[in-house]
Amino acid sequence: MNPFRSVGARLSLALALVVLGALAVVWVALVPTLERRLVAGRLSELAGSARGVLREAEAARTLPNQDFVDEASRGAVARVVYYRPLALGTISPIFDSAHLLSSQDVERDPIALRAARDPGVQRGRVSRGGNDYAEAAVADSAGDVLLFSASLHATLEDVDLVQSRLLWSGLAGLGVALLAGFGGASVFARRIRRLERAAERIASGDFDQPVEDHGRDELGQLAAAFDRMRLRLSRLDDARREFIANASHELRTPIFSLGGFLELFRDEDLDEATRREFLETMTEQVERLSKLATDLLDLSRLDAGPMRLEHEPVELATIAEDLSEEFAAVARRFDHPLEVDVREGGVALGDYERVLQIGRALVDNALLHTPSGTPVRIVARGADLRVEDAGSGIPVDQHERVFVRFSRLEGARASGTGLGLAIARELAARMGGDVELESRPGLTVFTLRLPAFSRENEPLAPIR
Ligand SMILES: Nc1ncnc2c1ncn2[C@@H]1O[C@H](COP(=O)(O)OP(=O)(O)OP(=O)(O)O)[C@@H](O)[C@H]1O
Ligand SMILES: [Mg+2]
Repeated sequence: MNPFRSVGARLSLALALVVLGALAVVWVALVPTLERRLVAGRLSELAGSARGVLREAEAARTLPNQDFVDEASRGAVARVVYYRPLALGTISPIFDSAHLLSSQDVERDPIALRAARDPGVQRGRVSRGGNDYAEAAVADSAGDVLLFSASLHATLEDVDLVQSRLLWSGLAGLGVALLAGFGGASVFARRIRRLERAAERIASGDFDQPVEDHGRDELGQLAAAFDRMRLRLSRLDDARREFIANASHELRTPIFSLGGFLELFRDEDLDEATRREFLETMTEQVERLSKLATDLLDLSRLDAGPMRLEHEPVELATIAEDLSEEFAAVARRFDHPLEVDVREGGVALGDYERVLQIGRALVDNALLHTPSGTPVRIVARGADLRVEDAGSGIPVDQHERVFVRFSRLEGARASGTGLGLAIARELAARMGGDVELESRPGLTVFTLRLPAFSRENEPLAPIR
């Protein structure tokens, strides 16, 4: 991966931008204001001194001299220059606290000139000989001008110091941001890479190693979700393997048996009675195979997801009658009295063919897994279809197991494939119902519960 596109680089860049932005804001808000305030403060100090000294001098009526300006200079910590007015609005310095031989540098001082022209205290910032000065000047009643000038060198140096401190601390912050970005992201990147490896492991079908991440943040939650997915996929994979193993085993038995009989048929010397017997057994095996194929197809349809089912009113009395007609011959063969009770039968909502299919699975079990001679009853009551038998019953701890695919109880009289009840329950669930079991020795009741049909949920198709 391009290192500049990594999370670390992006995080560092984002942090660096934040630091730079904060620095720019502080710079813009602080540096110019600081300088302006410091200069303004110095100017108003000088203006105050100028006003004060002038007032004192006028009150004392002293004639200005060198001592006067020296004294004023010490008091204000500034250079003080005393000007006399000349003709044509110009002025000339006569006393200067700087003791310069000629006060040429302040001869045409703009602040002093302004004070000679305008009344009141004048102030301003002046550049002279490469240096900056804060100046205040005031004229007395005679037109003499008193100028206070203080270098801004120290003040501006302070501002520079603040600027450079800000710059250095900004650079340090930038460095820390870059390091923190890379450091923080590398911790996350390591965890993300671990998750990526786990996902690849799962994708390649290795479900054994758990996905581990002990963080309590979103990544930790993602890892936990991954692990749940791993466990579920692992269970599904086991179920798939088991299903294939069971299905192939179930298919192999009748196919082997058919193969054996075909071998025997090659033997020309079979008498007619044996031939007929063999043919009968072979027909049974073929029927078994075709039932198995149908069941497997149903299961694969159920597993594939949504299934097309009608949503129609189903008269359970009709279902019960149909079932009793269909199974009359089998019941007679196994010597089971088959009764039907539809007095309280109602109308359920479901798919007629699928309801009939569930009923077949239940009646088939009641006839095949019970001793001959015991009665079997098909009862329609409300939106329930009950199939009752008088067999030896199913132990309570096996009640859930009989609904599991390919499961048969030990010592079952007839050997089926163990798919009937599993399919029945799934189909019932798809129609919003369920198949329930109550059993004790002598009475076993399988109940198909379906949603009752009422005028509110009246469907489009007619009653069958
Ligand atoms: N009425 C019943 N009385 C006693 N045992 C039953 C009854 N119904 C089901 N069983 C037991 O539950 C098991 C599972 O039934 P299920 O209908 O799912 O499969 P099966 O009848 O064995 O095969 P098939 O797929 O052909 O129906 C049966 O093998 C049998 O042992
Ligand atoms: Mg069955």
